[in-house]
Amino acid sequence: MEAIKDKIAALRKEIERLNYNYYVLSQSLVSDFEFDGLLKELERLEAEHPEYYDPHSPTQRVGSDINKNFVQVEHVYPMLSLANTYSEGEITDFYNRTRKFLNEDFDLVCELKYDGTSISLVYENGLLTRAVTRGDGVRGDDVTANVRTINSIPLKLHGSDYPALFEIRGEILMPWKVFDALNKERAEAEDALFANPRNATSGTLKQQNPAIVASRHLDSYLYYLLGENLPCDGHFENLEKAGSWGFKISDAIKKCRTLDEVFEFIRYWNVERKNLPVATDGIVLKVNSGLQQLNLGWTAKSPRWAIAYKFQAESAETRLNSVDFQVGRTGTVTPVANLEPVLLSGTIVKRASLHNADIIENFDIHIGDLCFVEKGGEIIPKITGVNKAARFMIGDKVRFIKNCPECGVPLVREKGEAAWYCPNHFGCPPQIKGMIEHFVSRKAMYINIGEETINQFYQAGLVKNVADLYELKAGDILKLERWAEKSAGNFVESVRESVRTPYERTLYALGIRYVGETVAKKLANAFHSIDDLMNAGYEALISVDEIGEVIARSILNYFSIESNRLLISKLKSYGLQFSLGKEALANKTTILNGLTFVISGTFLLHSRDEYKSLIEKNGGKNVGSVSAKTDYILAGENMGPAKLEKAQKWGLKIISEAEFLKMI
Ligand code: IVH
Repeated sequence: MEAIKDKIAALRKEIERLNYNYYVLSQSLVSDFEFDGLLKELERLEAEHPEYYDPHSPTQRVGSDINKNFVQVEHVYPMLSLANTYSEGEITDFYNRTRKFLNEDFDLVCELKYDGTSISLVYENGLLTRAVTRGDGVRGDDVTANVRTINSIPLKLHGSDYPALFEIRGEILMPWKVFDALNKERAEAEDALFANPRNATSGTLKQQNPAIVASRHLDSYLYYLLGENLPCDGHFENLEKAGSWGFKISDAIKKCRTLDEVFEFIRYWNVERKNLPVATDGIVLKVNSGLQQLNLGWTAKSPRWAIAYKFQAESAETRLNSVDFQVGRTGTVTPVANLEPVLLSGTIVKRASLHNADIIENFDIHIGDLCFVEKGGEIIPKITGVNKAARFMIGDKVRFIKNCPECGVPLVREKGEAAWYCPNHFGCPPQIKGMIEHFVSRKAMYINIGEETINQFYQAGLVKNVADLYELKAGDILKLERWAEKSAGNFVESVRESVRTPYERTLYALGIRYVGETVAKKLANAFHSIDDLMNAGYEALISVDEIGEVIARSILNYFSIESNRLLISKLKSYGLQFSLGKEALANKTTILNGLTFVISGTFLLHSRDEYKSLIEKNGGKNVGSVSAKTDYILAGENMGPAKLEKAQKWGLKIISEAEFLKMI
């Protein structure tokens, strides 16, 4: 037995070492294949020997805990912001002010200002115990389960010379590469794009499912140590120590004595930052000595010992040649400006977003106008204004179109929405093709054809809607260019196979506006067949977790259209899955339908997570905090006193584990 324990310990240590080298030092010591082998071996041993479970094992980054509502917690030290400036003159002022106040020599540490989401990490006895977002500076969201999935953040520290308790702050970042891929995927699914990596990061950290966070490959840089017993007086030296404990500390850091050195750093990184894998938006200057920091002190909002120098957002001026209106899969019309090519942040820009009809009207933009283009972290540059002073020969005023540029049908706009769309979903070519592309995509029916083939089928008149795919014969396809007997046969076979795709994916494949993968899953769990879903009214829809007004209206609208209902009955006749399979149903009941539960305290018979999933499997809903609308409190040992008080105040039902298990 001892041998197994040692083997597990050795594997954990080796995997941690490889992880650290890969994610913090960016060095691969072994092949992916070898690494996966070690991880699988450890997973196997841990599964066979649950007695050696350790929440800090490298296998335990993605826990099973689904965050329902994030718990708000108070910061030990408030998270203040930084005074910032765009002017070199104000940096000189800051330097002189500091010199005068301290009346002695001092060092300034220059660092990059990373543009992500700030995070506070607490380590107790070398273990990560808490990760909290900035929130309002006083209290933030406890996002520990999500942050644990970020590989460059150590769960367990190296060495032994770290304080027993300390906090370290830094930035969580989504690398450009990951951001671009994520937005590409979202564009294909016609999901709203993230404006920049910062928004994508904070959106990711607020995800309820840590497995999704893990899939987004976030990274981190840590830049500020706090606590009573830090190893050194100097901020720079403390960060070096933190590096030796396994944290990712940026190399772009320099201790400077003179203003000249500071400006040299600023000018160097203002150019070089464009080659970094993550977004930065300035330089931070910090007085190095902790003692001097203490003397300088804080204002109500920020420390007097630090300042941020922000880089100007890059913008260029160029001429508007014309405007295109593009029609997406769900019919949304997006205005795109065609520009006189211009160099912006290292790339040539020819096209930029013109946002929507209201913004076009506000800009009062005309063809031939000189306009400002910006690329503020977004992949698609945008027009931010018009240089009206430079207008001499005025061209036509840009007006949002009234009819679809592809099929001519009048455009419509929902109340409260900014976008116009073409309602001709079954007759508008880009919508038809887009709908088919979505239907066959990997997360939907997974039929192996691309954009070009869909276009080929559409042009040949073989496929006018997704149902036509199921009528395609190898013989028809063979008449088209580039097809051979084998490829045509394979294709027909993969269409036939696709009817086995489970209900929730089939539902997602229909491409109902706002019904993405997650929403489709929630709907399938709440309404076990498409008939149940079609019959659900507004109230029933919004009572489902995460289904709000907009999604509910979109679903009702979808089923109110005759051709959509016809399409579904056709697809049904080809054998597609429009109800939950036996296996999925087997574990489910409706006993707790419509009831909300709050779980509090610790339990003996099952874990909290198990209770959460038991509640959901039986049709109930978990919520994080007690309200007058809560039906039951499932209380274990040491239930929180605040919850108990509220429960008594509102006369809510408090039940024990045994009572709950009897209920189900
Ligand atoms: S130090 C009290 N260092 O900028 C000083 N902040 O505007 C604590 N930030 O909320 C912050 N890079 O999210 C510091 N190298 C860096 C930073 C940095 C980015 C962010 C941080 C903070 C914001 C302040």
